[in-house]
Amino acid sequence: MKFVHGLTSLKGSVVMPPDKSIAHRAAMFASIADGVSVIENYALAADPQTTLSCFRQLGVSIEQSGTTVTIHGVGRDGLQKPEAPVDCGNSGTTARLLTGILSGAGISATLIGDDSLSSRTMRRIIGPLSAMGVSFEARDGDFLPMTIKPSGDRHLIPIRYELPIPSAQVKSCLLLAGLFGEQPTTVIEPVVSRDHTEKLLNLPVLLRDGAREIQTSRQTPIPLQSYAVPGDFSAAAFWLVAGSIYPGAEIVLENVGVNPTRTAAMDILRRMGADITLSNQRERVSEPVADITVRYVGLTATEILPEEVPNCIDELPALSVAMAFARGTSRFTGAGDLRHKESDRLAATAALLRGAGADFQEHPDGLVVHGNPDFRPISATYASLHDHRIAMSAAILAGRGKGKSGVKDASCTAISYPSFWDDLSVLSVL
Ligand code: S3P
Repeated sequence: MKFVHGLTSLKGSVVMPPDKSIAHRAAMFASIADGVSVIENYALAADPQTTLSCFRQLGVSIEQSGTTVTIHGVGRDGLQKPEAPVDCGNSGTTARLLTGILSGAGISATLIGDDSLSSRTMRRIIGPLSAMGVSFEARDGDFLPMTIKPSGDRHLIPIRYELPIPSAQVKSCLLLAGLFGEQPTTVIEPVVSRDHTEKLLNLPVLLRDGAREIQTSRQTPIPLQSYAVPGDFSAAAFWLVAGSIYPGAEIVLENVGVNPTRTAAMDILRRMGADITLSNQRERVSEPVADITVRYVGLTATEILPEEVPNCIDELPALSVAMAFARGTSRFTGAGDLRHKESDRLAATAALLRGAGADFQEHPDGLVVHGNPDFRPISATYASLHDHRIAMSAAILAGRGKGKSGVKDASCTAISYPSFWDDLSVLSVL
């Protein structure tokens, strides 16, 4: 349990941890490229490290020195069948994208994960991959442990698949399987989700009737790259919210990825009145990066529309905290998918707000939060449910209170942001 005391404000500058989504992809693409790739600023967080251990198990030689990772890619046909079940830990992105690669590469393997990952649905990838000719044996037809049984002749049936719900993991899983097919695999995305896979693989995106159409096949080149992973916007979002709700706050976040498919939370906070400015904008290996400054000015309520949800899905717990301090009633809907993340994040966020004494209602696919700029959370003991984003949301909520609060299983922040508690101390004005 970590204790958080009520803070006067937050001030200073911190460097964000490397982006988890980009790190996973860089490691995976480098593993199936022909030759050596170097990834600078690779995340030390648990989830991206899990991806490295999975690919080592598939016969890829990977060296890590600090945050520099060198990957000796084995090419599309060089992955080896693992001798033991492959452990994806807590990482949904690892499990889903790896399933795409193994399905395409024709490698039979069993994926396992921790209790949280083992309770998250795999049906959304099992469905389309089955249509490509891959068989699965999953617990209750849906969950890890899951054995992937590709068709023996490595022949993938080409599909055109329209995503029924926006999901970058499902999109990327299918595009990665498609990299091994003689015929193209086409994914149609009516609502854009994070586009790191397309960007890092330089995939052309066709716009047709407002939807995005993306294709891969064995002919799609996998670039050998020197990757440089930017700071994680999803980590920065906690400080953007904190900087907007702690009177007197001024926080500078260095080297943050500002890919527009990730930054909806910044647009939403600005719409609520937040003072957020970008400086030193630059491009780092296909991805835009900037330093971000947030200064406290006080917030007013907003409504987050369902079409905005995919690009702030990981930030909704933190945005819900912001809503508790905004003048008026805020709401979001169309976020039922939050119930299938590392925890049921709608219920977990509602529990944080309840513990703090906020005025809100929970709905099946969203929250309505009656905010108040003078809100002071009461002292509480918050359950993180081993969910890193819930633990960090609890911390910024607790610090805005008067007394001492506790966050249980606080070390789970290491899943995406190992230095979170240190950064909180650095920024704290007591
Ligand atoms: C991710 C996609 C999102 C997000 C997750 C990372 C990715 O999941 O919640 O943290 O890297 O592709 P969904 O694709 O299931 O929405």
